[in-house]
Amino acid sequence: MREAVAARAASHSPYSRFPVGAALLGASGRLYRGCNVENASFGLTCCAERTALFTAVSAGERKFEAIAVTARAGHGAPPCGACRQVLAEFSPELWVYWRDLRGRMLRKRLSALLPDQFELTPRKGKRR
Ligand code: THU
Repeated sequence: MREAVAARAASHSPYSRFPVGAALLGASGRLYRGCNVENASFGLTCCAERTALFTAVSAGERKFEAIAVTARAGHGAPPCGACRQVLAEFSPELWVYWRDLRGRMLRKRLSALLPDQFELTPRKGKRR
């Protein structure tokens, strides 16, 4: 959660003024930070969780132990539905940490936050 707070400092959120930070722990033990990156075309915004995940995957990490997410102090920030689906692609049993309105830490398995994730069987054969 300390890393998530540090990640939030880089947030680009002039439109919502709702900075979010995430810290994703890879199976390798490496931590990956992410913040929300907003755009003047609002729908193009990327959440902190996906920023962290895409950074990690780009670095070659594929399995994850836990993610901590933080928004404004005292505001809970469990990942949005889109981020749950994107995280579940790699680690459906990921531990997700966030804080409730009183600042107490909460923790749930991603599989509890996103039961019945959408899945496709990867296609076999040569890459095109
Ligand atoms: N946001 C996140 O970064 N993570 C979430 O799980 C939900 C929302 C961001 C997107 C946008 O920049 C701001 O919070 C307000 O929705």
